[in-house]
Amino acid sequence: MSNITIIDHPLIQHKLSIIRSKETGSKDFRELVGEIAMLMAYEVTRDLQLEDVEVETPICKTTCKTLSGKKVAIIPILRAGLGMVGGMLELIPAAKLGHIGVYRDEGTLKPVEYFCKLPQDIQERYCILTDPMLATGGTHCYSISLLKARGVQNIKLMCILAAPEGIKVVSDEHPDVDIYVAAVDERLNDKGYIVPGLGDAGDRLFGTK
Ligand code: URA
Repeated sequence: MSNITIIDHPLIQHKLSIIRSKETGSKDFRELVGEIAMLMAYEVTRDLQLEDVEVETPICKTTCKTLSGKKVAIIPILRAGLGMVGGMLELIPAAKLGHIGVYRDEGTLKPVEYFCKLPQDIQERYCILTDPMLATGGTHCYSISLLKARGVQNIKLMCILAAPEGIKVVSDEHPDVDIYVAAVDERLNDKGYIVPGLGDAGDRLFGTK
């Protein structure tokens, strides 16, 4: 079973309630998704490694901490995952970006990859996959398998909302991947939407409906 962490900080819960509302327009929705992603990234990166560094303050020399070890890659799953990138880059400006595009074939119901561009040194990086919605989990499992096939060892999945069904699918297939969400909702409906959810995250981010 994967480790699932629910990051239910009051600021995140407050912002989440606003993006759930159908009255919230694209501009506010986009800004709030970015803010939630930034707040979540603070927790998701809690285990980044540190090393000692000597610093001379205006008063004296001292030993402080600096980030060391693996560099970070942020990998949005297209297209809604893009909405989380800006907020995360505010916190981790040196991160590199990869992009994965996967859709579900209506006939076979299997994930089909249509785009994949990753940093060359991806296997050396600490990878954070982003998608606001963990619904069925099919595209997430596919994206995680794709990263593993490229040699990535440290993968975290960061979503804003999840359905229990999606968490189970990802946990069963990738028990080594840590999953971070802001809330776990009730269920999926027969169209694959999270209930109560927030609707189609891509359409709401990009104003396409
Ligand atoms: N993707 C979305 O954008 N919304 C859902 O509820 C499920 C998947």
